[in-house]
Amino acid sequence: MPDSKTPVTVLGLGMMGTALASALLRAGHPVTVWNRSAARTGPLVAQGARPADSPADAVAASPLVVVCLLANDNVADVLDALGDRISGRTLVNLTNGTPAQARELAARAAEQGASYLDGGIMAVPQMIAGPHAYVLYSGDEKAYETHRDTLAVFGGTRWTGTDPGLAALYDLSLLTGMYGMVIGVMQAYALVRTEGIGAEDFSELLVPWVTAMLAGAPEWGRAVDSGRHLTDVSSMAVNHAAFPNFLATFRDQGVSGELFAPFQAILDRAMEQGHAADGLSRIADLLKLDHQNA
Ligand SMILES: NC(=O)c1ccc[n+]([C@@H]2O[C@H](COP(=O)([O-])OP(=O)(O)OC[C@H]3O[C@@H](n4cnc5c(N)ncnc54)[C@H](OP(=O)(O)O)[C@@H]3O)[C@@H](O)[C@H]2O)c1
Repeated sequence: MPDSKTPVTVLGLGMMGTALASALLRAGHPVTVWNRSAARTGPLVAQGARPADSPADAVAASPLVVVCLLANDNVADVLDALGDRISGRTLVNLTNGTPAQARELAARAAEQGASYLDGGIMAVPQMIAGPHAYVLYSGDEKAYETHRDTLAVFGGTRWTGTDPGLAALYDLSLLTGMYGMVIGVMQAYALVRTEGIGAEDFSELLVPWVTAMLAGAPEWGRAVDSGRHLTDVSSMAVNHAAFPNFLATFRDQGVSGELFAPFQAILDRAMEQGHAADGLSRIADLLKLDHQNA
């Protein structure tokens, strides 16, 4: 009964847009697709999608429009070109962007008569529609409730709030944790490789170590939320005393310390401001820009 499923338009058929459109087709939705380079519609048309010549033609086909382009500037251009032809539809923007961009696009969409949902995809294309994929949503809650079952085709759905910027804030915060981990892992690999130790072999030690350390995150979170950072685990003073050893070893072994040098500056600031007995959770407070000149 494919006709009972909500028709969906997908604008943007890069790696992610193609995965989203393909998942909708597999779930039985009528899907209309548009991409700047028309050649990319081919594989989806072979799966049953209808190709559209323009964004306006594409959005005319469906009450639900999913857009996934490289950047939000591209989304703004498409929205401008659509004018009020997007009116009465729900626009779900799954393009990576900032909270401010999401708020701006939500306001534009409202001016053009559309409901707006912003989304942050917590998956790579190959994970879409699989058990570990989920998407964060924010914006128009009524539109979210109306289309939630359809959006669930992509994976889990996680509502973050009516401020359209919240999905992007959650998304970027989660990715910040990931980039922090990647930076640490790459620095460790660069360091062990200086003595010919295989990075893959070293990962057998690194993964359980980092995993065990990460188990402390809820407790650090409690400290950050409460502002009570005193610790009996590992004080700022101990970390401040040890950290120069890292920068010296990077230098001695011929590895750049550029990713880690800023951490020394914040440990110095913690000590200068009298936080020697606090745990590392104090750092989240020290990162607030209004504290820098305190
Ligand atoms: N890939 C991932 O793992 C992943 C995960 C989460 C979120 N995302 C986000 O999803 C979005 C798309 O990523 P992707 O991996 O699909 O990227 P991609 O494969 O590089 O595709 C980019 C898409 O944007 C279109 N585009 C670029 N510039 C445009 C313009 N000026 N006007 C109109 N369309 C334009 C491209 O059209 P053409 O085909 O004509 O170039 C293509 O459809 C990004 O915001 C990304 O951060 C990706």
